[in-house]
Amino acid sequence: MVCVNRRPDGSPKGSCAERGSEQVYKALRAGLKERGLARVRARVVSCSCLDACTTGPSILVEPQHIMYGRVTIEDIQDILDAIENGTVVERLSINPEF
Ligand code: FES
Repeated sequence: MVCVNRRPDGSPKGSCAERGSEQVYKALRAGLKERGLARVRARVVSCSCLDACTTGPSILVEPQHIMYGRVTIEDIQDILDAIENGTVVERLSINPEF
């Protein structure tokens, strides 16, 4: 689940969309498709706020309950590798507060 929530410009919390999550979402979808993993191993969906705004763009991987923060386009291949191999990208892993 990729947060694509967008708050108005100047909002103190900021938002994942403001930090590039819409591009991250599209790149993850394309990457899964390229690797033949879409609908077989994983499915990418967009969602609203995951309550980790200050460390966004935020991604939640279920059912493993792994939260990634500050995700950029440059991280996509590592995330796809982790999905494929059942591992975690430790440098992006954050502890969700829920
Ligand atoms: S706006 Fe994305 S986690 Fe809150």
